[in-house]
Amino acid sequence: MSEKYFVDGLLRGRVALVTGGGTGITGGVARALAESGARVCLVSRRMEHLEPAAERIRAGGGEALAVAADVRNMEEVERAVAACVEKFGKLDIVVNGAAGNFLCPAEELSPNGFGTVVDIDLKGTFNVSRAAFAELKKNRGQILNISATLHYGGTPLQLHVSAAKAGVDALTRNLAVEWGRYGIRVNGIAPGPIEDTEGMKRLVPPDVKDRLKKHIPLRRFGLIRDIEQAAVFLCSDAASFINGAMLVVDGGHWLATSRFTNA
Ligand code: COA
Repeated sequence: MSEKYFVDGLLRGRVALVTGGGTGITGGVARALAESGARVCLVSRRMEHLEPAAERIRAGGGEALAVAADVRNMEEVERAVAACVEKFGKLDIVVNGAAGNFLCPAEELSPNGFGTVVDIDLKGTFNVSRAAFAELKKNRGQILNISATLHYGGTPLQLHVSAAKAGVDALTRNLAVEWGRYGIRVNGIAPGPIEDTEGMKRLVPPDVKDRLKKHIPLRRFGLIRDIEQAAVFLCSDAASFINGAMLVVDGGHWLATSRFTNA
């Protein structure tokens, strides 16, 4: 985070495990949690994404551990949680950010294509939450799920992701109710169009981008730092009574996607 909006050391003493923490939005979230004083364990499939991210955190004075694991594989997930606890002694915060995406019309989407994205986004979120439960219970910890706004309407070419993220929202609310009794808070962030991401570069053509911007009431795209700030807030004690919330960070975009007006 470039600007400082929070007091120093807001998350000092906390340990966070961040899936998808090597790149993109969750890479930024991992770095922001570390800048706020948390020690972080970065988890994703590819070590070549993780090590440079962990190195950047260390270079900034933070503590980071990189662990390669596929969130679809429960054994690998359990090993990653164990490695985090072994290194840092505990686990307080889980950020479920690992996600897969591609654009595909529903009539061309294969069952395996649909299932792959549901496996990564939804089942991966369950796997990591489930594997971390005992540690989170011990520490009255919390979970932050990175969702989306795609499924608030019907988003063409994004059936698989929309279905998976709708499941993530359900899981967020359900776990908030079931695990609240242990002091575990479960919340989510639903980012709108975020400009400085791989997804935006790869998935949204320039002409669509121009049109899209006009539909955002704040007339700008989000930036990874907008999500970082929301994440730091939700992970901090400032949000200690917030449980089961999905914080939409989209400049008002999804609300403005009206069937009756064009803005
Ligand atoms: N269009 C249509 N189907 C696609 C696709 C595309 N662009 N990309 C993958 N699929 C389908 C594959 O065809 C396959 O289905 P099939 O067996 O019926 O052919 C299925 O999805 C699994 O693909 P595979 O490449 O074997 O899976 P994977 O586990 O290696 O990777 C993703 C899956 C989704 C993660 C992959 O698309 C990817 O690596 N994306 C880039 C990273 C990313 O999405 N980051 C998030 C940015 S928001």
